[in-house]
Amino acid sequence: MEVLKTGICGLDEMLGGGVPAGHIVAILGSPGTGKSTFALQFIFAGLQNNENCAYLSLEESEKNLIKTASIYGWDLMPYIANKKLAMVNLSTLNLKAMIDRVETDLPKLFKAFIIKRLAIDPVTLYEMIHDSESERRDHLFNFAKIIKDAGITAVMTSETSKETPYYSRYGLIEYIADGVVILRQVRQTDPGAVTTVIEVSKMRHIEHSREIKPYNITKNGIVVHSGSGVFL
Ligand SMILES: Nc1ncnc2c1ncn2[C@@H]1O[C@H](COP(=O)(O)OP(=O)(O)OP(=O)(O)O)[C@@H](O)[C@H]1O
Ligand SMILES: [Mg+2]
Repeated sequence: MEVLKTGICGLDEMLGGGVPAGHIVAILGSPGTGKSTFALQFIFAGLQNNENCAYLSLEESEKNLIKTASIYGWDLMPYIANKKLAMVNLSTLNLKAMIDRVETDLPKLFKAFIIKRLAIDPVTLYEMIHDSESERRDHLFNFAKIIKDAGITAVMTSETSKETPYYSRYGLIEYIADGVVILRQVRQTDPGAVTTVIEVSKMRHIEHSREIKPYNITKNGIVVHSGSGVFL
């Protein structure tokens, strides 16, 4: 089975190599846990492997994401110029335009430009625009189907709240995704100490680690300390 390296040191080890090709993986985390960093790192690993990639932003501007990536040492500009990376910003669109872009324009883009990796950051904003639960479910299923039909491997970041760090806001994406990775901040009993931990709670088709491992956001991106244990 083909697997794609996430580019996140330690996480690929936990996965036994990487993410199975064609999977949609949800990255759950509260604000500041590194979801966008994860998505950028995953995309940059693909670019370095000469894969065509796309980054669908629902929150941050293209300029901001390029800047964030550059701080980690990932220069996206040459890849954008060479058309290896498509940056698509949906953050400024109204609701109807956002749905149209996802359901009409994206399938066209995927036909014209064969994409290996895709990041959607954060998918929560796409979920929020639908009023009823059934609409939300239908549109999210449709979104996932568009990605699957195009044979793309994708990460979708999703917000959690401090109160329910194991579940996405609507509790839907976990079922639609083939894999779920949870990023969490854990307050230690030692006052002031916060540890960030990662776990793979689901990854279809592979035998992955179920351990909780500490991670840090460093100047080179996310580093998972897969050899260390966590005392909670
Ligand atoms: N160069 C850096 N070196 C170390 N840590 C950094 C660096 N840049 C950012 N961070 C850490 O990463 C966090 C932000 O990461 P990121 O934007 O990926 O999180 P996020 O989960 O996407 O946040 P949000 O919910 O706001 O979208 C910062 O709060 C900071 O702790
Ligand atoms: Mg973010």
